[in-house]
Amino acid sequence: MFIAEALILRDGNNNKQEGTYMNIQLSQRIQTTGKYAFAAIDEKVAELQSQGVKVIDFGVGDPKTPPPSFVIEHLNQFAEKRKTTGYPSYIGSKEFRQACADYMKREFDIALNVETEICSTIGSKEAVFHFPLTLVDEGDVVICPSPGYPPYKNGTRFAGGTVYTAPLLEENKFLIDFESIPQEICDKAKIIWINYPNSPTGAMATDDWYKQLIAWARKNNIVIAADEGCYIEIYFDKKPKSILAFGKEGIITFYSMSKRNNMTMFRSGFVAGDEKLVAAFKKVKTNIDSGTPTFIQDVSALALQDTNHIEGMRKEYDEKRAIILSAFEKKGLPLCKSDSTFYIWQKAPQGKTGEDLANSLVDIGIVVIPGAAISDATASGINPGQNYVRLALVPTLDEIKEAAKRIAEELVL
Ligand SMILES: Cc1ncc(COP(=O)(O)O)c(C=O)c1O
Repeated sequence: MFIAEALILRDGNNNKQEGTYMNIQLSQRIQTTGKYAFAAIDEKVAELQSQGVKVIDFGVGDPKTPPPSFVIEHLNQFAEKRKTTGYPSYIGSKEFRQACADYMKREFDIALNVETEICSTIGSKEAVFHFPLTLVDEGDVVICPSPGYPPYKNGTRFAGGTVYTAPLLEENKFLIDFESIPQEICDKAKIIWINYPNSPTGAMATDDWYKQLIAWARKNNIVIAADEGCYIEIYFDKKPKSILAFGKEGIITFYSMSKRNNMTMFRSGFVAGDEKLVAAFKKVKTNIDSGTPTFIQDVSALALQDTNHIEGMRKEYDEKRAIILSAFEKKGLPLCKSDSTFYIWQKAPQGKTGEDLANSLVDIGIVVIPGAAISDATASGINPGQNYVRLALVPTLDEIKEAAKRIAEELVL
């Protein structure tokens, strides 16, 4: 496909240079990649705002609450301390990796070797996207949950792999039914992505499910990539466990400062698990990037040590969740109570799709993500997100109350 129209050359004064059209042929992987789901939501919000609508944005899971104040206060001090450090370490400073190990021990009773079993990341997104490069060759299969975080499938495709879509269904408590995956897929699969506490459903994995998954994965030589650390500290009743509590061999976990510490802007996280997988991941990273800025690792280490701010954060999400669930319930929508994360995976009313519900909400200035935008149809043609919308409870408490009022008074279904 030629895209000459989009590539009109311009001179230094931004004047069109007639006749100087280039034929730039984009790669198949870019041509077949749609707009990033969350970028499209940002555009929708901007469009509504430009029309003067006071938008309440439940779209992208990007908390508006600032990081704990000590994080901001220490930035300058750490930048000063590191001012002649130069490029960061590819794999993370020893202090940062030690802070990650201490955190995993304190919170989940997992012992990790800082030299071999931990590597820093520039946030989980890059790590998730790049991880398939460690294992996937052309034609290998990666099992990805649907609905699911888009980099699971896009990282797979960019690495030359083929995605097998595993649906997250209410009747399975939104756990992957790995036993139902056909043997010929298991034979070709290199990785299974799991994400518990789960975005968007809020589901948590049980001990039994983890044990059975590990047994199944070992039998089939499939690596478990557990994107568990993003929301693991945002829960309501029962504290989630790390999958590493059930085994380390063939398992790698992904952790992030983004939601735990409201540090999405900082781009900081780490991976931990099987040393062979961590070593392969380090190799990929040294070829791709130059590490997380060292002063950011320093504040991240500090943030990991702090537990005080987390309790308040959990309480606030709990309160926000209750307000929205009650508003929907009063409107006759099914109760979709989540166990963890700051998402609500709200089912549309009988006879309506997630898109219908998202459109009705947009009409009253409330932006959510239609489930189908973050889920793919399975081989049998079922799209598990079709009848849902995702709400990220990231607006302020006042905005959440305002949204509940609009739902009660103005929502037309
Ligand atoms: C399930 C899941 N994994 C990973 C990430 C990425 O987090 P980070 O900000 O560390 O890149 C997100 C971000 O929203 C997420 O929802």
